Amino acid sequence: MSRSRATELLIRVDLRARSTLQQQIYDGVRRAILDGVALPGAKLRSSRELARELGVSRTTTLLAYDQLIAEGYASARQGSGTFISHELPNDPSQTSPIGRPSRNRHPSLSRRGLALAAVPCTTQRVGGPPRAFRLGTPALELFPMRLWTRLVNRRVQSATLRDLDYGSFAGLDVLREAIADHVQSARGTHCHADQVVIVAGSKPGLDLICRLLLDSGDHAWMEDPGFLGARASLLAAGARIVPVPVDQEGLDVAAGVRRAPHARLVYVTPSHQFPLGIPMSLPRRLELLKWARGARAWIVEDDYDSEFRFGTHAVQCLHGLDPDGRVIYLGSFSKTLFPALRLGFLIVPANLRETFVAARRGIDHHPPTLDQVVLADFMAGGHFERHLRRMRAAYRERLEAMTTAADRFCRGAVTIRPVRAGLHVVADLHGVEASTVCREAALRELEVMPLSAYGARRRTYANALVLGFASLPPDGLIDGMKRLAAAIDAATGVNASGRGRRTRRSAVQYPAHE
Ligand SMILES: Cc1ncc(COP(=O)(O)O)c(C=O)c1O
Repeated sequence: MSRSRATELLIRVDLRARSTLQQQIYDGVRRAILDGVALPGAKLRSSRELARELGVSRTTTLLAYDQLIAEGYASARQGSGTFISHELPNDPSQTSPIGRPSRNRHPSLSRRGLALAAVPCTTQRVGGPPRAFRLGTPALELFPMRLWTRLVNRRVQSATLRDLDYGSFAGLDVLREAIADHVQSARGTHCHADQVVIVAGSKPGLDLICRLLLDSGDHAWMEDPGFLGARASLLAAGARIVPVPVDQEGLDVAAGVRRAPHARLVYVTPSHQFPLGIPMSLPRRLELLKWARGARAWIVEDDYDSEFRFGTHAVQCLHGLDPDGRVIYLGSFSKTLFPALRLGFLIVPANLRETFVAARRGIDHHPPTLDQVVLADFMAGGHFERHLRRMRAAYRERLEAMTTAADRFCRGAVTIRPVRAGLHVVADLHGVEASTVCREAALRELEVMPLSAYGARRRTYANALVLGFASLPPDGLIDGMKRLAAAIDAATGVNASGRGRRTRRSAVQYPAHE
């Protein structure tokens, strides 16, 4: 038993939570035992390993384990480790009419379910109002809320009983027409409104694609680093994910061919690679299309934030270069409008449109009709295009404010990679570890992600941060940069001493007058 592998528990700790770290670890392990994720007799990860993995002190994990042992959830075996008990303690709050509570309150999860639940969180959200440098959230305070409310009210007041019934499974016709017009003028592709299927955001769209196009065990290429949300959909469909490296031209197609030449599907973000922020070069796009044709593979193009460009022309989407109908285009209104809207769309091959709609009918119906019709009104009235123009100017200003502040407050420690599109940047760190900076940043109410969080080959990544610049006005970003400088300084002390003691050496060069 002592040689068995320690069981994987999906525990996360949140530095900002009300409960102590020890309590969170205790709760996480206890929950895993009660849910049947951790089985009787299984060995728990050593307190030292768990402490290292969660970035907490060993004393914290030891105390959490001691509590589990004291309450009978686990037992310690001298020299072998800590094991989950075969008999659960009685929980007085859980008396059951059929006798003692069973060891597991319900059957355990599927392997697929466990894999899905283990996909790490994409963002490090502190919660509450937007903070520097939140990823994925646009400038919500600039959204024309009053206009949107007027459009909603008008539709609610004129609603008939028919509007309360099920609508078209592909989505509302007027909205699909507005989207087809927009994509053709803004993204350089051709499609008919019939090919547009409205979904509740990119993630449900991707989920539908994966369920329909993949069989369990199929290989699917994914950009590495890449969007963890895509990873979840692929796993849920039972796909075997093949991480394919990204270089300065985008997805390394030759590397993908070496790793899995007969993959069934590839997920890409060619207009603005997530998270590296680079466009895929034209030769690479053609190489990808050529391989996909030969391998009879699908390409899923996630065009999540390509509307925002700074001093550069729009890059035509991959869908526009595809003569075969093997690229499925995935669009979202989460960045262009607001994420809570939960509306996005697919552009599917004309001959598969009925199949997509039939499959969606089996598992879902359609996103709420009221939201769809209001969005259609917003687009038909020209407000969408106006909003995009306004937001491009606002984001350009935010980006400038952030890069200037980085140069001013973090010079010597941070280099922001050139940015020409999108709503986030990659910032290389010098002389200080990204993971330590992220921890110190969280203590200062900053939302900062290490680049390594998005990759399969974590150890090989550049020592860098991914920083969003869209959700706060320039003042907030400048203030955020000052706090990031302080976090880097604190992290430099931690790294330099190696044991958490601070040194006086600073990685950050402060402006003379600060
Ligand atoms: C690469 C990528 N695709 C898509 C999305 C949007 O997802 P959704 O439309 O489900 O909100 C995001 C959100 O951050 C993203 O980063």
